Amino acid sequence: MNTFKAPKGTYDLLPPDSATFLAVREAIAAPLRNSGYGYIETPGFENIELFARGVGESTDIVTKEMYAFETKGGDRLALRPEGTASVLRAALEANLHKTGNLPVKLWYSGSYYRYERPQKGRYRHFSQVGAEAIGAEDPALDAELIILADQAYRSLGLRNFRILLNSLGDKECRPVYRAALQEFLRGLDLDEDTRRRIDINPLRVLDDKRAEVQKQLDGAPLLSDYLCDACRAYHKEVRELLSAAGVVFEDDVKLVRGLDYYTRTTFEFVHDGLGSQSAVGGGGRYDGLSEMIGGPALPSVGWALGVDRTVLALEAEGVELDIPASTSVYAVALGDEAKQRLFALVTELRKAGVATDMAYGGKSMKAGMKNANRSGARFAVIAGERDLAEGVVQLKDMESGGQEAVAMDAVVTLLKDKLV
Ligand code: HAM
Repeated sequence: MNTFKAPKGTYDLLPPDSATFLAVREAIAAPLRNSGYGYIETPGFENIELFARGVGESTDIVTKEMYAFETKGGDRLALRPEGTASVLRAALEANLHKTGNLPVKLWYSGSYYRYERPQKGRYRHFSQVGAEAIGAEDPALDAELIILADQAYRSLGLRNFRILLNSLGDKECRPVYRAALQEFLRGLDLDEDTRRRIDINPLRVLDDKRAEVQKQLDGAPLLSDYLCDACRAYHKEVRELLSAAGVVFEDDVKLVRGLDYYTRTTFEFVHDGLGSQSAVGGGGRYDGLSEMIGGPALPSVGWALGVDRTVLALEAEGVELDIPASTSVYAVALGDEAKQRLFALVTELRKAGVATDMAYGGKSMKAGMKNANRSGARFAVIAGERDLAEGVVQLKDMESGGQEAVAMDAVVTLLKDKLV
């Protein structure tokens, strides 16, 4: 029989690398927890219509990349391709916005699914940690989120990332720009598909990666020239707050995101060591999304950082996270009776909060000690028949190699003292 393999575009997270993954999630979450964001978890799948309306009918995510299916009961669902629509749906459903305490600040961490062409840094199953601040229009909130992401990356030791910043305007100025852009694009030599895109979502044409298209886009009208006074003032304040906080960013008037719900502030974190899949995170303001999915007007802003790509960025910069060994004490027994006694001791140590493991499977002393070494434990606790008779265990310091006999009933207290 053929052995099974992980599905195309997915990979398994295995020790020891998985520890880095967990540390990255934790490092992104820490500044959020510290800034008033509460944890939210939503289902891995939603009604497909939520994403069609929220993310946008004309986006690649909805038209090409969704894992959509019909259940036996006839419900049309999709695996979540992103988190924002789900988080807002959940907040509306639970009436969090009616508690009178806006913005509602939420953070999340989980798996997302997009049927994309797999390549390094682009997977069909990937991980994000995200944050959404729902129900307030305040440049300080946009700035807060960008500052927190910057802080998260820096706390991990990343340096070679850049923040690209843009404003996409609002419902006043964007339509005027859209019309001007459409007129410009209609005068170009473009293929059928791209021409269709001009009607549905002309801003996406600016994001076309093909050289023959990019060449023609020189001289295209820029949204920055069309921003209304309110959007201009808003953007200016976001930029000033970031600068005051010492966060360096680049204005990128061509930054277009792959989701349709954005208004005003949009940003992307790109890492220069990652090749074509360089966006390690992205986000922006989505003042119209709530109404698009049937809720009241709730101006909001958020981001999601890609955990997979952040791990790749750490590798690209040669940053090794300082991850302490997960096991502090490793027990090795010689003989059945010693095994029983040590097993009880191990349970006791664990209850006392000492990270402890032991050799299983009737191993020889030599094999057991090899395991103790590999575990990274600071101490080994060793016992054989003779130790039992004397009521002691041998405590070996794995760093110095020194060994001493310790009374069995004093081990837990002694190790607790030595380790904390
Ligand atoms: P997004 O830019 O589509 O935004 O995704 C955010 C991050 O998720 C990307 O920058 C990237 O690091 C990671 N990512 C996306 N697709 C893949 C993939 N196929 N493989 C590996 N990593 C990937 C959003 O998802 C928005 N919901 C962000 C947001 C929150 N906007 C407002 N609030």
